[in-house]
Amino acid sequence: MSVENLEGLFVHELKDILDGERQITKALPKMAKAVESQELKAAFEEHLRVTEEQIGRLETIFESMDKAARGKKCPGVEGIIKEGSETIKENDMGPALDAALIAEAQKVEHYEIATYGTLVEWAKILGRDNAVELLQQTLAEEKETDERLTEIASELNLVAQAQA
Ligand SMILES: [Fe+2]
Ligand SMILES: [Fe+2]
Repeated sequence: MSVENLEGLFVHELKDILDGERQITKALPKMAKAVESQELKAAFEEHLRVTEEQIGRLETIFESMDKAARGKKCPGVEGIIKEGSETIKENDMGPALDAALIAEAQKVEHYEIATYGTLVEWAKILGRDNAVELLQQTLAEEKETDERLTEIASELNLVAQAQA
């Protein structure tokens, strides 16, 4: 990665997370299909809908900068998703797999929270008020999703623990 200044860094990070979000829209339906808990399935499906809106916000930001909304491969998200898909392949459906996929999903959320938190601060410094607002909305959604997953996990972990 070669960047000259904060503006360049901002654009680089936007492209990174745009690709990350697009990867996430492909992974979430597979995760929803792999879990047994209906509550968790619903949470993944809901987050897919939210993620599509988040991509729309990123596209709006690119548009306001007169740049094409082109992503740049995000190896961070790719790596976490790969761990998740291996876990799905190697395990039968059930509470332990559900607990494992919550953990993977929360790793993605934390990656996103770190990225959007940084982007909000950079957008503030760069005086891009419209982007600040859009990125803050997405940051709040990622935090909400993380908390929702923690709630679901508090029940599902016990179910997984009770398995023979
Ligand atoms: Fe997201
Ligand atoms: Fe997310």
